Amino acid sequence: MTQLKHFLQFKDFSREEYDALFARASWIKAQFKAYKPYWPLSDRTLVMIFEKASTRTRLSFEAGVQQLGGSAIYLNTRDSQLGRGETVEDAAEVISRMSDLVMIRTFEQSIVERFAAHSRVPVINGLTNEYHPCQIVADIFTFIEKRGSIQGKTVTWIGDSNNMCNTWLQAAEVLDFNVHVSTPPGYEVSPDLAGLRGTKHFESFDDPMEAARGADIVTTDVWTSMGFEAENEERARAFADWRVDAEMMQIAGPNAIFLHCLPAHRGEEVTAEVIDGPQSAVWDEAENRLHAQKALMEYLILGKVD
Ligand code: CP
Ligand code: NVA
Repeated sequence: MTQLKHFLQFKDFSREEYDALFARASWIKAQFKAYKPYWPLSDRTLVMIFEKASTRTRLSFEAGVQQLGGSAIYLNTRDSQLGRGETVEDAAEVISRMSDLVMIRTFEQSIVERFAAHSRVPVINGLTNEYHPCQIVADIFTFIEKRGSIQGKTVTWIGDSNNMCNTWLQAAEVLDFNVHVSTPPGYEVSPDLAGLRGTKHFESFDDPMEAARGADIVTTDVWTSMGFEAENEERARAFADWRVDAEMMQIAGPNAIFLHCLPAHRGEEVTAEVIDGPQSAVWDEAENRLHAQKALMEYLILGKVD
């Protein structure tokens, strides 16, 4: 029996697997745009477990699996026994006997790891405090569509060293590109979480403008991620100078694109001029969650399809 494949961190897949995944995402997207039915997951069931809020992740997984011929079941902490003390291990045993694939959005990464260790079916990380790998797959797919290979390119991360930042840094190690990070003091990258093997793909900048110089992608995220709301005011003070604005995009250069996983707060981490401006690719990025995750679900359930 082949070993069960999960997608819990970006580094779970190799560069070859990503090449194949991006090619499949592109093909699946073309079928969808041409209204050509493609139902490789008929009779397959995806269970989606949400312990945090979501718009894009729920929508893209639910619509995605249905468009591939399968169905989705939504569970959240409030309405299931997960909120009443049933262990993650017991939940994994039961849920994975009734489904073909599980997606989880939760707090600590250890929760998805524990679930996966007791699951009979593949498990996808739909965001944890530490990582958001599905988003970075969509982000890189978006860059490839617009500019070609990301190898050797520079991604500038402005703001919090959060789940998105950690995942960009992991992706840089797998796909061989560079990440310039500028965070306020006290919010620096944790090398272990980011999976940094030395500093080959990572450079830290005190000045956010310097971090953005010559970048191919400038990207940021909310100052306060889900689960950290108690730090809101303190963070608003600390992050005030870590905002992507038109001047920063100019330093990056005319070919740079702006990405944001969304939801965004205009006037905080990014100005309206940038996110609604000509260099912004955020709507294509959001849409690509759908196409990239369809390729991901196909791969995890059926293996490599040519
Ligand atoms: N980007 C993203 O994951 O969005 P949601 O929180 O709406 O799912
Ligand atoms: N860093 C954000 C991403 C939301 C999609 C959070 O974790 O809340």
